[in-house]
Amino acid sequence: MEPDQIVRTFVEHYRRRDHRYAPESSLVRPPDDPVLFTTSGMHPLTPYLAGRPHPSGRRLVNVQRCLRTTDLDEVGDRTHLTVFDMLGSWSLGDYDIAESLNWGYELLRDGFGVGPGRLHATVFGGDDQVGPDETAWRTWTALGVPVELNREENWWSNGPTGPCGPDSEIFVWTGEGPPTGTPGTDGRWLEVWNHVRMRYHRHDDGRLTPLPQPGIDTGMGLERLEMVLRGGRSVFEGEGLASWVDDVGGLWPLDGTPLRRVCDHLRSAVVVIGDGVRPSNTGRGYVLRRLVRRALTELWRDDPARSLSALPDEPYADTVRRFRQHSDVDVLRRTIADEEHRFRGLLRRGRPVVDRLRSRGPLTGEDYRWLHDTHGLPRDLVDGPLAERG
Ligand code: SER
Repeated sequence: MEPDQIVRTFVEHYRRRDHRYAPESSLVRPPDDPVLFTTSGMHPLTPYLAGRPHPSGRRLVNVQRCLRTTDLDEVGDRTHLTVFDMLGSWSLGDYDIAESLNWGYELLRDGFGVGPGRLHATVFGGDDQVGPDETAWRTWTALGVPVELNREENWWSNGPTGPCGPDSEIFVWTGEGPPTGTPGTDGRWLEVWNHVRMRYHRHDDGRLTPLPQPGIDTGMGLERLEMVLRGGRSVFEGEGLASWVDDVGGLWPLDGTPLRRVCDHLRSAVVVIGDGVRPSNTGRGYVLRRLVRRALTELWRDDPARSLSALPDEPYADTVRRFRQHSDVDVLRRTIADEEHRFRGLLRRGRPVVDRLRSRGPLTGEDYRWLHDTHGLPRDLVDGPLAERG
């Protein structure tokens, strides 16, 4: 199934169950939000989950572009992306977890053809503040889906304070042959969907109080679902990454983690620029700067002459379309080219500094810190393009 068809199937499933489409938000959060980027589908809906009436009613569905910098160091493996699309459904004080899980199960089985034998669920097993989620456990058991109980892993919050609650995660078996073990014991169980019972508000002092209106918040990563449906081994085999992988991999002899990093970071940078961010030394601009510079660091490790301007328009245009943005490809390319130019200048100025330090002996941890903090030279660059020559 193509991503567009996956989105249509998802939205249609919930529309038939009286959900209305909630407009997608920008990745850029308004100034009163302490968080820089939209990290999940529920994030823009926080006030409504906390009790404010939503203009579209009590049942919502949408697809929302998200950015997670917490996953930045994991990017390069098979399943993590910095920017991705999240398919979401919500009950704002309407139905509870049993309906949510049953509808989710029906969609996976009938809409997406994921056989029940490939599913495993995890459920909140209780802690000293909140009891186990017996309803979720009973619902999965009635459906014949095996359940694993956890504590912290099955408690969802969007930050240290705010709405939170026990969640139930759905895993799909991605290994060869019949499933073995549980999500906790076998990494071939891949988490695809999370159903959160938004029931509590966490206060500054750690106290939990019940929300005025308990709700449900679900989120499923589009690229992961596509991977599972195509029986792929990595999200980088999916349609949304294909043009990056083909063009980057066709131009330069990269593979494995370096190729995946370059593709993820460039694609993410395109979406971030599309939402109006420009590279800078603080906040969102710094995240964007890091994305572009990390991609260049991977590229320049073997050959500092490589330039992103060699890439064709195609991956840029494809990403703009897939993320429902309207960016001008020339503006995207120019923004990235300017950042490449600045980074090249930084390296040129950094080389004599690094060479001078090296002439005194092997670099120490303190040297690396100084190079990073004072000259903006990350360690992988100092050890890569700025490595000792000869
Ligand atoms: N908020 C939950 C998550 O991001 C489900 O949407 O996983």
